Amino acid sequence: MKHQKIERSPSLMIGLIIVAISFGTLVELVPLAFSKSTTTPIEGLEPYSALELEGRDIYIREGCNTCHSQMIRPLRAETERYGHYSVAGEFVYDRPFLWGSKRTGPDLARVGGRYSDEWHRAHLYNPRDVVPESNMPAFPWLFEATIDADITPRKMATLRKLGVPYTDDDIAGAEAAVTDVREIDALVAYLQQLGILIQGRR
Ligand code: HEC
Repeated sequence: MKHQKIERSPSLMIGLIIVAISFGTLVELVPLAFSKSTTTPIEGLEPYSALELEGRDIYIREGCNTCHSQMIRPLRAETERYGHYSVAGEFVYDRPFLWGSKRTGPDLARVGGRYSDEWHRAHLYNPRDVVPESNMPAFPWLFEATIDADITPRKMATLRKLGVPYTDDDIAGAEAAVTDVREIDALVAYLQQLGILIQGRR
């Protein structure tokens, strides 16, 4: 029987397993790349401004995403606490994605507008000043350091190559927009826009 022949030959068996798994993977992944619901930005979504983009890079550099997810699952317990569940169209300009799965702290997908800028600054300077039981680390150096503005236009140009629709004007104005800006202000600008487009909806 043919099947016996396959099972008796390890190399044939391995080869066919690889073919079967690759085919299954392609069938799952390829349609996602073409599906409208995963590739169309939600209404009102704009690429990050130079300031927000730098804030996002600080967020990654400081490892905020190792304790905070940005992905609200469509479960009652999550939507009651955080707001509308996350949808694919919110993330089309995100590179890399910061969805995460570890929640030492709360999910931040819809934290924009939940607190004032002053609250965020106080919290990031020393979380215990505003949330006494907090075990989040303090980030006081963000109040001293300023953004390295001359690489911002290059970051935006690279993102444009990856499909983010930055205009020439966006890129030309980027350096001036973040020159002499403190890191804390870029980070707070990033936090304050998280998830605001579909906030308040359940
Ligand atoms: C070691 C884990 C850890 C890291 C790293 C961390 N956080 Fe947190 N974060 C927490 C915990 C725990 C809380 C809940 C207590 C509190 O509010 O301080 C929290 C709360 C927050 C909140 C309030 C959320 C809400 O809905 O009330 C914000 C905003 C926040 N963190 C932002 C950040 C940012 C920005 C960074 C990176 C600069 C960061 N966190 C890094 C653990 C962490």
